[in-house]
Amino acid sequence: MGKKKRLSKKDAPSNITENETIMSQDDFIVSKTDTKGFITYCNEIFVDMSGYTAEDLIGANHNIIRHPHMPQVAFKLLWDLLKNGKEFFGFVKNLRKDGGFYWVFAYITADYDLNGNIVGYTSFRRKPPRSAIEQIEPVYRLLVDAERRGGMEASGALLAKFLKEHDTTYDALVMNLQKGA
Ligand SMILES: Cc1cc2nc3c(=O)[nH]c(=O)nc-3n(C[C@H](O)[C@H](O)[C@H](O)COP(=O)(O)O)c2cc1C
Repeated sequence: MGKKKRLSKKDAPSNITENETIMSQDDFIVSKTDTKGFITYCNEIFVDMSGYTAEDLIGANHNIIRHPHMPQVAFKLLWDLLKNGKEFFGFVKNLRKDGGFYWVFAYITADYDLNGNIVGYTSFRRKPPRSAIEQIEPVYRLLVDAERRGGMEASGALLAKFLKEHDTTYDALVMNLQKGA
């Protein structure tokens, strides 16, 4: 039997559309990865929302659903926090197999063995309030633009400036947006 191909963002659709799929209020999208971000588990709602089969998803790099409208600095923050044993909260626009998208409010945390070593990560996502998407989308657009011009150094500086101007931190901003503030 041949080795299974591991899907990644290189296999993602290039026909990106404006078709949005909206999460149900009561749903959780759940996935688990190994320490490198390769998917080891996904629930049925993840299968439905992403448009891939469970077989496609297991073993795939989680970036298979990375949307080009997401700034890279968001994922840098995510990995920096997780590798340091901290939790990540954030709003993520994800790319479906059919080129459409869906927004989530994600909570990601590390999984440990009995010796305290990180053995993987788990993400739970809920439906974000529309008001949060409306507020975060233009910020992400500016960050993506900054990245196009000056890489992550530029978007990191822009994010720091934005938080300072609003006298807030990343975590406080995200929590307030999720509350519908
Ligand atoms: C548990 C877990 C869940 C993740 N979920 C997503 C996700 O839903 N969407 C996404 O774009 N990236 C997600 N990531 C981040 C990806 O691993 C990756 O960093 C991101 O897609 C950017 O990929 P790139 O740096 O190859 O462009 C997740 C990572 C972990 C550890």
